[in-house]
Amino acid sequence: MSEPAKRRGAGPDSSNLRVPVGVLISGRGTNLAALLSACAEPGFPARVEMVLSNNPAAAGLERAREAGAATAVVDHRDYPDREEHERAVVKVLREHDVEWVCLAGYQRLLGGSMLREFPGHILNIHPALLPAFPGAHAQRQAVEYGVRLSGCTVHFVDEGVDTGPIILQAGVAVEPHDTEDTLAERILVEEHRLYPEALRLAVSGRLVLEGRKVRVAPRPGRMGR
Ligand code: GRF
Repeated sequence: MSEPAKRRGAGPDSSNLRVPVGVLISGRGTNLAALLSACAEPGFPARVEMVLSNNPAAAGLERAREAGAATAVVDHRDYPDREEHERAVVKVLREHDVEWVCLAGYQRLLGGSMLREFPGHILNIHPALLPAFPGAHAQRQAVEYGVRLSGCTVHFVDEGVDTGPIILQAGVAVEPHDTEDTLAERILVEEHRLYPEALRLAVSGRLVLEGRKVRVAPRPGRMGR
């Protein structure tokens, strides 16, 4: 399919020129909401082409519908194994001509199909300063460990659990009275700022992978800054 035909969804605001992104969710979808509102801004270089959930009850699906994004449910319980489920997810993303994938609270580990299909084009947000506290309950781990600083990380997805190259991070102070919930709430504020910024850099072609380091290339016309 030709590039202009792929970038469909033409509108008066040149939304057809924006890079089509698929967002994968499993739950409430506040990061999805942040991405949707960034994509609604004039000049933002991406648009949420579709939102896919493995969980039919995910509240984020409703947010997506309200914003006018296409939605799909690919329930993992309908498939015999992880690989079959993932192949079905890839098929739906391909049907929508998605070029980048954002995991936003998607509670499934990715395997070979997704990584092969979208090499270097899958982002995730994690509520800790990786490589500290990967996996589930990162905010609880941070509180229990007694760190003074935690935060969030947007990273490329690889085959490990929250191990991919780091794109952006934001720090959040951990206060002595913090619980898992109060810390999570403050980290979330930073997540909602960081994820759209990382997506902007990604779809603009400004993330350059050097080994496992990610270099942010200057904006065109701003050499050396
Ligand atoms: C966020 O804390 C994100 O960092 C983690 O899962 C949570 C999803 O929250 N990966 P939401 O569904 O975006 O509100």
